Amino acid sequence: MENYVDQSLAEEMMGATTRQQVDALFEYMERRGQSFYDEVVTQLEHALQCAALAKQHEANPTLITGALLHDLGHIILDEHNADKAFLDIDLNHEEIGAQYLAPFFPESVTTPIRLHVPAKRYLCATDTSYHEGLSDASKKSLIVQGGVMSGAEREAFEQIPHFQDALALRRWDDLAKVRGLETAALESYHDIVQQCLIQ
Ligand SMILES: [Fe+2]
Repeated sequence: MENYVDQSLAEEMMGATTRQQVDALFEYMERRGQSFYDEVVTQLEHALQCAALAKQHEANPTLITGALLHDLGHIILDEHNADKAFLDIDLNHEEIGAQYLAPFFPESVTTPIRLHVPAKRYLCATDTSYHEGLSDASKKSLIVQGGVMSGAEREAFEQIPHFQDALALRRWDDLAKVRGLETAALESYHDIVQQCLIQ
């Protein structure tokens, strides 16, 4: 199966001012984030809930931005719950999302995005209650994502800068699936995201 990555957002952001880049990004998320992430929340609701948790935990602007954008890969790949293949075939949305954002954001933003799936594999190996707390969909996708990390994989993971941010992001990601939860609007993150952009 050929994976289709939508280049329109990157094209719009390229060469724009940081203000325009945030505008383009948010407009895209509003427009393309209305499909369902799972049975309960849309992609946009999931992003907003994840960012709200990061903010509540007084995370750095880079990690709040990472939380907001961590599943952009799903949107640019147009993966969503209506597509049965979404949970059976791993399209590496975390890698695709991080690469897509790399021209615009520093590694402190893109690395937690890139690692939020391996972070689940790490946490399943180190925290016994963590696996039990995962949703059925997340347990199912763990298998296609490579399963629980081995000791050697965990050691390698701990060498990567920002790995702890990825673990924090992962825990918020898992909680960001609450039906009908009221959250701050996307626009309230404008300044936080703009200050993280590479000038
Ligand atoms: Fe997520």
